Amino acid sequence: AAKKNSPLIVGIGSGANYLASDIPALLKYTRDCAVMQDGEIAIVGKSSVEFFDSEGKPIDKKLMHITWDADSAEKGGYKHFMKKEIAEQPRAVRDTLSGRIVDGRVHLPELSLGDEQIKNIGVVHIVACGSAWHVGMTAKYLIERSAGILCECDLASEFRYRHPVVRENDLCVVISQSGETADTLAALREAKNRGAHTVSIVNVVESTMARESDDVIYTVAGPEIAVATTKAFSAQLAAVYLLALRLSSAVGRIDEKEEKHHCDALLRLPEQIEQVLENEELFKPVAERFSKASSIFFIGRGLDYSISLEGSLKLKEISYIHSEAYAAGESKHGPIALISEQTPVIAIATQSNIIGKTLSNISEVKSRGAKVVLMCSEDTVIKENVADYIIRIPQCDELLMPILAAVPLQLIAYYTAILRGNDVDQPRNLAKSVTVE
Ligand code: AGP
Repeated sequence: AAKKNSPLIVGIGSGANYLASDIPALLKYTRDCAVMQDGEIAIVGKSSVEFFDSEGKPIDKKLMHITWDADSAEKGGYKHFMKKEIAEQPRAVRDTLSGRIVDGRVHLPELSLGDEQIKNIGVVHIVACGSAWHVGMTAKYLIERSAGILCECDLASEFRYRHPVVRENDLCVVISQSGETADTLAALREAKNRGAHTVSIVNVVESTMARESDDVIYTVAGPEIAVATTKAFSAQLAAVYLLALRLSSAVGRIDEKEEKHHCDALLRLPEQIEQVLENEELFKPVAERFSKASSIFFIGRGLDYSISLEGSLKLKEISYIHSEAYAAGESKHGPIALISEQTPVIAIATQSNIIGKTLSNISEVKSRGAKVVLMCSEDTVIKENVADYIIRIPQCDELLMPILAAVPLQLIAYYTAILRGNDVDQPRNLAKSVTVE
């Protein structure tokens, strides 16, 4: 085996050795492994492994022992990894916040920039793929709104080839569960070459992005096995909240009192996610309706739009039903032409400053015959008949709503896929780590 660009892990077993592109794939067989570096070569036999550098000289390769608890790689009584991972979200968020909020203030020593350097940041570039990009869209909104720093959020596959303007005082944040996604890794290298300070938010310890970025903020979701990400997504959201708060306080946009208020709200999230999980029966009728549809629309504005994108991706990747997410205000510019009685619409409206606008977009699709599921907070006062079905989520700091809104969407996708008889954990045509571009 030889390593060049794409990740390569050698697993050391007893009576067998293994090659894989990430650590979770090996956990069923062994917990001892070596992470190969570019140019390195391994000769792997049944009972021996030899390592060489690019010149063919033998090297003494450091082995790693993976200490993730065995449970994390097993279903633990659940029928699917996805369901287990959805249920683990309170823990994943709690562990990601743990030790990073001290006396009501964000404590993020992983970010090596001091207050003065943060004040000097020109642009924050966030780069990611898939669900991690949706976290990035949320982060863009949070950072611009709370820290007042210009923030661009790019799909990694676009960023790497679009000759982005990245300057030395810019910050580039890559977000990735695996830390190995080929496009995100290439984007990280591109930003680094252009002189930006790089931070990775990754879940897999010692992954390539973690090793190559200047700073790493690990999410503490534990190994995620299901292809459709859930707990890593929530943990990433928790991490970007911490980052946004750190930037906001460094630039002086929030004072200690406000920081404490936001930190307290963050610390309440695990319990509130548990409350959403307890209501899972309420989401099954929506899945029942969705499972018979051939096309489903998700609409929302602002933070609700970023979570609409995630709801739509989650649904399509495991249910194989066509779905689209639109910024609610965009519907009139084309997508509304596709709305009919056969097109369910799920509208997310958790932000009080724009809920009126989203409600008027709901009435537009309803008047074209769409059946509408509305997701809003438990305190929202809604007139009768606004929607056909209402999902209420606990009230929290509005900026934190995406993390609670994601959970019903994950469960709706999960139950829709089950009703359609699909392989939830291993959906067709998809891989957990996309290590090729
Ligand atoms: C989401 O459920 C996905 N399976 C997919 O979009 C994923 O988020 C994307 O491939 C990025 O992966 P990463 O976080 O490992 O970089």
